[in-house]
Amino acid sequence: MKGIVLAGGTATRLYPLTIVTNKHLLPIYDRPMIYYPIETLAGMGIREVMVIVGGKSVGDVVELLADGAHFGLDLTYRYQRGALGIAHAIGLARDFVGDEAFCCVLGDNILRGPALEPVAREFEAGPWGAGTLLYRVPDPERFGVAELDAAGRVVGFEEKPTQPKSDLIPIGVYFLRPDAFDVIEHLAPSGRGEFEITDVLNHYVADGRLHAPVYDGQWADAGTVASLLRAAELAASDDAEGRLAPPTQRPDR
Ligand code: DAU
Repeated sequence: MKGIVLAGGTATRLYPLTIVTNKHLLPIYDRPMIYYPIETLAGMGIREVMVIVGGKSVGDVVELLADGAHFGLDLTYRYQRGALGIAHAIGLARDFVGDEAFCCVLGDNILRGPALEPVAREFEAGPWGAGTLLYRVPDPERFGVAELDAAGRVVGFEEKPTQPKSDLIPIGVYFLRPDAFDVIEHLAPSGRGEFEITDVLNHYVADGRLHAPVYDGQWADAGTVASLLRAAELAASDDAEGRLAPPTQRPDR
């Protein structure tokens, strides 16, 4: 399986912290934010990763991560012009992905809990076209939100609804196959002008090929000032429990 980390976007919700720098370089406890999604992919046993970069300080992101050897990874980069949405950013990795299944992790998502390698293997070997992980939050209107039927099956996702139909959200971990690129190519932009990942997931809900288990670890994004603090607290509590690996040091030059 190949991996993708998304590190573009404008991060206006974090202004003034991100006026002159890339959100993914901000510290979360003892390491830059982008270390967490990189470590999430490494924990799945994935070795080849493309980082989609955009917005501010792209050169600093590359200087920090370099070729990825200090993470045991092989990193490549692609530049996203503008912030046209998560699905658009994933679409840029088409040639890199080739004909393999792949996992995309959002650059501001922090997961603490069991390694996801079994989930990745299960998806790769399974019949599904797409997979994500669901997580219960108190403020679902900030995210994509799942709608469930009486049997608890996902029947669709809505992006940032004013009236959420549940408190279960798809976190920023997406398992996909190359046919997702055709789905992305045919997407129309949403009302906010973005190509939405929830529209990609809805495609697979409609044909009954979405895998959406509930994540049993802990999760935070770091896209707002409040969630940035919560993400740091999550990492710090994990460190206090001795579960956070020491941060990877700078790459050899
Ligand atoms: O964190 C989970 C949520 O992430 C999901 O529940 C939502 O369905 C999904 O749309 C997304 O919502 P956000 O509003 O949090 O997404 P945000 O715009 O903050 O972007 C998430 C990451 O993706 C961020 O680290 C930057 C990157 N990104 C974003 C955009 C819009 C890109 O690389 N390129 C882009 O064009």
